[in-house]
Amino acid sequence: MEFKLLNNSQGNQEILIIFTYSHIKKYKSGEEIPFSKQFNNGKSDPFLSNIIESGEISGNKGEQVLLHTMMIDDFKYKSSHINDELKPKRILFYGLGDHEKVSADDVREASALISRRVKSLKIQEVSVIVETITNIDISVAVSSVVEGFALGSYKFEEFKSSSKKKRNEIKTIDLLIDKFDDEIKKSVEIASTTCDASLKARDLVNRPPNIVNPEYLKNYSVEMANANENLSIEILDKKELEKLEMRTFLGVAQGSKADPYGIILNYIGDSGNPSNNIWLIGKGITFDSGGLSLKPSMSMIDMKSDMSGGASVITAMDAIAKLKPKINVTGLCLATENMPGGGAQRVGDIVTSMNGKTIEIENTDAEGRLTLADAVEFANQRGASKIIDVATLTGAMVISLGHGLIGAFGNNNDLIQTLISAGEKTGEKIWHMPLDETSKKQNRSKVADIKNTGGRAAGSVTAAHFIGEFVGDTPWVHLDIAGTAMSSTNKGWISQGATGYPCRTLIETVFKLSY
Ligand code: BES
Ligand code: MG
Ligand code: ZN
Repeated sequence: MEFKLLNNSQGNQEILIIFTYSHIKKYKSGEEIPFSKQFNNGKSDPFLSNIIESGEISGNKGEQVLLHTMMIDDFKYKSSHINDELKPKRILFYGLGDHEKVSADDVREASALISRRVKSLKIQEVSVIVETITNIDISVAVSSVVEGFALGSYKFEEFKSSSKKKRNEIKTIDLLIDKFDDEIKKSVEIASTTCDASLKARDLVNRPPNIVNPEYLKNYSVEMANANENLSIEILDKKELEKLEMRTFLGVAQGSKADPYGIILNYIGDSGNPSNNIWLIGKGITFDSGGLSLKPSMSMIDMKSDMSGGASVITAMDAIAKLKPKINVTGLCLATENMPGGGAQRVGDIVTSMNGKTIEIENTDAEGRLTLADAVEFANQRGASKIIDVATLTGAMVISLGHGLIGAFGNNNDLIQTLISAGEKTGEKIWHMPLDETSKKQNRSKVADIKNTGGRAAGSVTAAHFIGEFVGDTPWVHLDIAGTAMSSTNKGWISQGATGYPCRTLIETVFKLSY
């Protein structure tokens, strides 16, 4: 999908998108219609005002009215859009509701729904009059349109035989703005690079677990880094992981036939200032069977998505290194399966983590926190100044916040607030969760320093506490994306299957920290 910024009189002519608002209902024929400024040189158009007066275009939120202009004999091609050069075959009026309440979220959602409509019409070229979006900054409006189209039109069809694939991809989207400056150009570039990363994360998660195994994630990352001049990569194989004493991570991996890998992606955006750095750590369980504490079959169904955190970190690193913020960023993904093979970790095992703390394994299905314990210790040893970890960590997260919010836990309020405001911008919403002392005690073990489960109560909190034990004082935020990594249906710009969460928010956060 290609996005082009063009002047108002340019643009392809298959379909033109015009945003409308509910206050147009008040206008009688002959009066000037608010959006006609961009539509008809500010003059009223008798044809349009007739449709509006009849109530067929109300501007109400979500309304879509499709006109075929060829059917209209006396259609007046007068304005800078509808003129001799630009005669769209179709116009889609899309209602945004109250013009004083329109937000970037609304525009992103609207653009996503429009993209699905356009796809269903089998149209491959679209023009959008961006200036019919009011109430928000034009560069925000333009990035919201890009995000809506890019994210909303996504559908995972890689494993459909070609005869069953619905091949109606949108190819180009012309963004029509009369005057666009460098800031607007930049925001299109940022939005499309960011969405690209998010869609790649969706692909990685949607591909099945027999394909996306630890080795696949490793190879994918190597290829990605080789193709990106600002990104370097380091791979830790099993031998090196042993040498590093990542016993907690290796304990999870030992039940699988697949070799585990450590994937480290490095971007240097502030070479003179090594302590200006942040580590992004993503859980990378390519399939979570539960291990010997085996999950029931129905609970295993989506467990290919247990590497969603890792996928979002890996693809975010690619975008970050392309967009070049002034900060050093390291992405880390410890990739393994969690399987119940003959060599699998037992319930009751005690392992000594990389940082020396001993852990009683009470449930092998609480494997995410085990891999993250060694990951944060490794980051600390390498001099991490800030750590964000992202993980599909607990079923309890789905119970507490459902499917619309990421839970954020951490030891640093500033960093949490930065993530929350980044999430407000991207639409990947984040809720601040507590780390209280009462639930912390639930992780106490009778036989080791700590155990890997804390009981049913506050299950997401105890899991976060567990990671916190290994983080120490490094400013840290843990994002539990168990409820938001997958979506059972299409919802606005979220497509059924993997959501790509929180890839765009990670990129936005890194930018916020780089200023
Ligand atoms: N990967 C799961 C968490 C999960 C559950 C993610 C549902 C997405 C949807 C994690 O490894 C897990 O199994 N957690 C256990 C922890 C429990 C044994 C303490 C859980 O939540 O049941
Ligand atoms: Mg598990
Ligand atoms: Zn898991």
